[in-house]
Amino acid sequence: MHPRPVPSPVTTPAHTASTGAKARFWNQVARKYAADPIVDVAGYEATLRRVQALLSPEHTVLELGCGTGSAALRLAASTRRMLATDISAEMIAIAREKLASLPLPLPQLRFGVADAEATATSGACHDAVLAFNVLHLVSDLDLALQAIVPMLRLGGLFISKTPCLAEMNPLIPRLVVPLMRALGKAPDVLVFDAAQLQSTFQRHGLEVEAVERHGTKRKDIRVFMVARRLR
Ligand SMILES: C[S@@+](CC[C@H](N)C(=O)[O-])C[C@H]1O[C@@H](n2cnc3c(N)ncnc32)[C@H](O)[C@@H]1O
Repeated sequence: MHPRPVPSPVTTPAHTASTGAKARFWNQVARKYAADPIVDVAGYEATLRRVQALLSPEHTVLELGCGTGSAALRLAASTRRMLATDISAEMIAIAREKLASLPLPLPQLRFGVADAEATATSGACHDAVLAFNVLHLVSDLDLALQAIVPMLRLGGLFISKTPCLAEMNPLIPRLVVPLMRALGKAPDVLVFDAAQLQSTFQRHGLEVEAVERHGTKRKDIRVFMVARRLR
């Protein structure tokens, strides 16, 4: 299999600065992020099973904000080809280490550094685009979807799981997160609820086919959505 280049992004100077700041934050926390245990293993496994059932060995899949590649390493075998990307070179370095240390090769999977908000020039070639725990981290959800939707073929699936911070105690997004941000301990976040996320998807030509919560512990603010590109 010949590796294909990671699509080159189209960017503006302001966008480049915000990409740099985001990448620096995530580069700094990447090793700690990789070492942290998954809090709700049963919920995580339920999401992976659900996504696996939506993918097929004919699918070309793109993952955005893949972090250290945990989901991609589990899902790639169910696809024809999977490109998993992240804004942080350090996250991708860890993902590549994990790929290289697998007991068996996983030729379907490649990792690359890319900003989910940058318009890719590769065209509508993916059967599915995945975005787990990342849509609340982009600077502008509309701009991100303007970049993401054209990367899906018509009828392709956008599968996401997203923390909806507007569903938390309001003190957390309004007070705790800004304080942590000021201390350099949290990234910039977008605050929206599941209904707002769903209507943003619809505005961008995505038909939402499923809205689920997979958490098995307490109230789960992370909404899992399956949406199909209609136009
Ligand atoms: C909370 S982690 C989630 C990682 C992984 N998807 C998971 O569920 O474990 C968020 C990831 O999104 C990446 N990220 C943040 N903003 C991004 C952007 N604009 N484009 C691509 N990746 C981004 C970060 O580098 C980080 O790896």
